[in-house]
Amino acid sequence: MGWLFLKVLLVGMTFSGFLYPLVDFSISGRTRAPQPNIVIILADDMGWGDLGANWAETKVTPNLDKMASEGMRFVDFHAAASTCSPSRASLLTGRLGLRNGVTHNFAVTSVGGLPLNETTLAEVLQRAGYATAMIGKWHLGHHGPYHPNFRGFDYYFGIPYSHDMGCTDTPGYNHPPCPACPQSDGLWRSPERDCYTDVALPLYENLNIVEQPVNLSGLARMYAEKAAEFIEQASTSGRPFLLYVGLAHMHVPLSATPPLENPRSQRLYHASLHEMDSLVGRIKDKVDHVAKENTLLWFTGDNGPWAQKCELAGSTGPFFGLWQTRQGGSAAKQTTWEGGHRVPALAYWPGRVPANVTSTALLSVLDVFPTAIALAGASLPPNRNFDGLDASEVLFGRSQAGHRVLFHPNSGAAGEYGALQTVRLDHHKAFYITGGAKACDGSTGPEQHHASPLIFNLEDDVAEAVPLQRGSPEYQAVLPKVTRVLADVLLDIAHDNSSQADYTQDPSVTPCCDPYQIACRCQTM
Ligand SMILES: *[C@@H]1O[C@H](CO)[C@@H](O)[C@H](O)[C@H]1NC(C)=O
Ligand SMILES: *[C@@H]1O[C@H](CO)[C@@H](O)[C@H](O)[C@H]1NC(C)=O
Ligand SMILES: *[C@@H]1O[C@H](CO)[C@@H](O)[C@H](O)[C@H]1NC(C)=O
Ligand SMILES: *[C@@H]1O[C@H](CO)[C@@H](O)[C@H](O)[C@H]1NC(C)=O
Repeated sequence: MGWLFLKVLLVGMTFSGFLYPLVDFSISGRTRAPQPNIVIILADDMGWGDLGANWAETKVTPNLDKMASEGMRFVDFHAAASTCSPSRASLLTGRLGLRNGVTHNFAVTSVGGLPLNETTLAEVLQRAGYATAMIGKWHLGHHGPYHPNFRGFDYYFGIPYSHDMGCTDTPGYNHPPCPACPQSDGLWRSPERDCYTDVALPLYENLNIVEQPVNLSGLARMYAEKAAEFIEQASTSGRPFLLYVGLAHMHVPLSATPPLENPRSQRLYHASLHEMDSLVGRIKDKVDHVAKENTLLWFTGDNGPWAQKCELAGSTGPFFGLWQTRQGGSAAKQTTWEGGHRVPALAYWPGRVPANVTSTALLSVLDVFPTAIALAGASLPPNRNFDGLDASEVLFGRSQAGHRVLFHPNSGAAGEYGALQTVRLDHHKAFYITGGAKACDGSTGPEQHHASPLIFNLEDDVAEAVPLQRGSPEYQAVLPKVTRVLADVLLDIAHDNSSQADYTQDPSVTPCCDPYQIACRCQTM
């Protein structure tokens, strides 16, 4: 049996046929508040400064700014890692990569994905009676049982990994620029291409590839339509729903129509940001029309801007990571500097989440899992430990207590993948290892190990410019606490049930609509 059997069940399934759980775990016999609908929208590579409500220079996010004024805006909210797959794995498990096994990105040819004995948010909520859907970028394994339909999502519509991991006929703006997918038979190789592979980017609906290459220009519109259809159908069915939307924005290639004059300017990025904002606005409008009183909408990002993409990357706002950038390299995506993982975050739930409130609580994408499970009245999966916390009291405006301690895993710029060498403790932040990601100028900061960590006081120095003097009383007071919490978490992880992801690669697992078509195109030309 296993996933092949399920695959037969799922093939061709559309909205009209949600996969209902074989066993009914529904709420009959128990009295409690109705289970809320949960909509999670995760932006890709969006900077903290790309939200107008955070950063006045950004003026192209009217829908998100409105959501901020109607809900809660978090200013000290962090991605669980500063790169795609680990961040998404933590969102869906509430666990850091050292526990759930996902410490770096999966490839087009990756055999594995998020380990199968990790339990996803969708699996927990599905068992609690929810209709579940994922729309957008998955990036947690696409081969066999790693596909979203086998990880708790009744419905899936989207791309299996980032949209620069495959050619398209509408390549959009990127550095280096990429040509369209090959159009004719025969050997086709372009020596300068290093951002797209020769295999076209597929678009899935459940287990079927419905378009390959996907047309990036139409993706935002299709995501909005599918999200609206799901919300509509799930509400009509009377069941609570979980909708997880992994946006293609603001990852390159950017496909928004650029302004005609000077298309290479920062305004291209802003055109794309504006397109993303409209997409979020459409999803929010649908929620408002269909299920306003009983839906938590949570918007955030997977990591900071991809600085090496120059003017096609977003803004970190005031989080410059100056100690790093002075030595070369960027202090954004892939790093543990604030610009790498401090992300925009908004919660919206009229009547429950207070309006027009800014929260300074230290929170994380890791908290989505325990919070959503608590709101649904479900239980955390047994036999493992979690890094997230239930933030519902903060969401409801009854508490400001977030994490006292948060660990930022290495995400590619320096050190071993997933290792916890940056520690946040209250408003202090300690680095045992530093290193920059590739910057726009091509530089990468040197990897440096700090036996006595660099400690910054973020209250006085959000730009992480000058570490505390090692001899200062403040440094001496913070150091033993940092040493202690780091030793504690490592001991906890050593005794936890941790999973290993399979990162082996095999070209035969590449998604392919039609192996007889060049670039795996779906249609004959
Ligand atoms: C992609 O979609 C856009 C709008 O949705 C359309 O104008 C364009 O012709 C399409 N391009 C291709 C190559 O199909
Ligand atoms: C939100 O709060 C700010 C001050 O904190 C105020 O200027 C603004 O008018 C408020 N907006 C709404 C929609 O209530
Ligand atoms: C690990 O799983 C076993 C059962 O498989 C359980 O007995 C044990 O308590 C678990 N450990 C943790 C830290 O939850
Ligand atoms: C997943 O499976 C591995 C290998 O069997 C095991 O060591 C680990 O504890 C499991 N993880 C969880 C969360 O149960």
